Amino acid sequence: ENATATLDVYFHVVSANDTVEGGEVPDSQIAAQLATINKDYNTTGISFRLVNTTRIRSPEWFNKVGPDSPEEAAMKTLFRMGDASALNIYTVGFKEGEGKGLLGYATFPIDYNSKPKNDGVVLLSSTLPGGPLAKYNMGRTLTHESGHWAGLYHTFEGGCTGLGDSVDDTAPEESAAYGCPDKRDTCPGGDVDPIHNFMDYTDDSCMTAFTPGQGTRIRAQLRTYRGVDV
Ligand code: ARG
Ligand code: ZN
Ligand code: CA
Repeated sequence: ENATATLDVYFHVVSANDTVEGGEVPDSQIAAQLATINKDYNTTGISFRLVNTTRIRSPEWFNKVGPDSPEEAAMKTLFRMGDASALNIYTVGFKEGEGKGLLGYATFPIDYNSKPKNDGVVLLSSTLPGGPLAKYNMGRTLTHESGHWAGLYHTFEGGCTGLGDSVDDTAPEESAAYGCPDKRDTCPGGDVDPIHNFMDYTDDSCMTAFTPGQGTRIRAQLRTYRGVDV
């Protein structure tokens, strides 16, 4: 068992034109995004290193890539790199179709074997640190989406009953929290809602932590489904 496993990251920037609104992202912002996830995962035994950045000019993919779209399949089939343990990140605009209005989405570890090319995280380019999307421009969308990619569910999964997120040190929550509520306790008994957790839906500035139990689940999922020695 290693103290920390370092995962390879392949970054794919899809743009419509040379502007920020068109999806252009400088290398400095990608470096800041890597620094953000490394800080946020620092308690989990996982770290990330950028291996390569691909720049793809495609207005069609920038606008239309979304969950289960033909544009997503075409993009990922051509550009996904590395094995099951490699984190592939695509930044797009989510302008049309199924993806419209999303901050990001991710595939889960258990789905790697059936659809290896589909594996990865798709992010709205304006969510990167210093991007133009107020309240969601500190890079926590990638922290959250890579959490799914590493096997975590939302803290509000299953509401107040049952297994919830299958992590025993995250308090149950009836539904997603937004903004940064002062006081929120939606399930009877137990602790207040985990609104500061990266796997809730609060503002980037409100999200501060993974729990030790989430770290344990991440490592187990990465071992079982992604062949990571951790
Ligand atoms: N809504 C998105 C999802 O379910 C991401 C939420 C990210 N939240 C944030 N504060 N960046 O995957
Ligand atoms: Zn999510
Ligand atoms: Ca829980």
